[in-house]
Amino acid sequence: MSDSEIKPVRKAVFPVAGLGTRFLPATKVMPKEMLPINDRPLIQHVFEEAREAGIEEFIFVTGRHKNMLEEHFDFQPELEETLESRGKHDMLEKIRDSEMGAGQLFLTRQPRPLGLGHAIWCAAKLIEDDPFAVLLPDVLIQAPTGCLKQMVDVYNQTGGNVIAVEDVPKELTFKYGIVDTGGEDAPAGTKGMPVKGLVEKPDPKDAPSTMSVIGRYILQPEVFDHLSAFETGAGGEIQLTDAMDKLIGKQPFTAMRFQGKSYDSGSRLGFIQANLAYASKDPEIGDDVRQTIRDFASQLDKDAMNEAAE
Ligand code: UTP
Repeated sequence: MSDSEIKPVRKAVFPVAGLGTRFLPATKVMPKEMLPINDRPLIQHVFEEAREAGIEEFIFVTGRHKNMLEEHFDFQPELEETLESRGKHDMLEKIRDSEMGAGQLFLTRQPRPLGLGHAIWCAAKLIEDDPFAVLLPDVLIQAPTGCLKQMVDVYNQTGGNVIAVEDVPKELTFKYGIVDTGGEDAPAGTKGMPVKGLVEKPDPKDAPSTMSVIGRYILQPEVFDHLSAFETGAGGEIQLTDAMDKLIGKQPFTAMRFQGKSYDSGSRLGFIQANLAYASKDPEIGDDVRQTIRDFASQLDKDAMNEAAE
């Protein structure tokens, strides 16, 4: 595809209408996407990743009890005045950095959480005829260059659709969307692998590879032609993977191993791991956090030895 035919990616969809059942009762009223990893909520981490990749229009697919998400990115005059009057300029900077400018935030609702594919379909009218990114807020990727930026760099060469992938243990393929590259592989970085097929949650014996789709996508608007059929797939949900699979062979479709480390912050264990990973790199508290982890680990070892000796 020549550069002139490749439309830049300026829009991103953030599906945030799920119920977050794995975090109940914490998410009974509080949206899962507002749970903090270190000093900012999940949704802000992915917003920053999208902004770094050149995204200008941020589309939230929200549902009931999710108003806090849009509030978080709004101008908060009382808070800003208070911080200003107390001379807390560092904090003021941080607050301002999480504000979206006028005309940048767009909202659409998903009345019932019928699946990721359905959530993305709810944004169809806002996407119009443009390529767009999708970022799942509960997948955090810690990387020197944001994962979406890495994908945009690949997209600017290939056009079409680009998905980020990483290896999962063979015996766990039944939990993930798995990519078929016909055996082709490429190291993490800026090079992609052409995708031949996608399978949602395959049994390990049927899985075409161990490369899993992880929650970052650049898609062409033609995906809506397939989502609008509202076909249900694995788990009785309308799956994005199934609609994407129908684009393969018709448009460029590339998988990219990203540089960095992903955290499934939608699970309780992944959430704790992400908090440790982000807090241990925090300029203010990182040293203390790392020391705390070491102390905690050595205490666990001592406890285990004492238990074994008893
Ligand atoms: P998840 O499946 O991880 O989120 O979807 P969930 O359903 O809220 O969580 P559990 O499994 O019940 O704990 C990934 C993202 O897609 C959104 C979720 O809000 C989450 O950010 N999502 C999922 C929707 O917006 N709509 C859906 O129908 C499903």
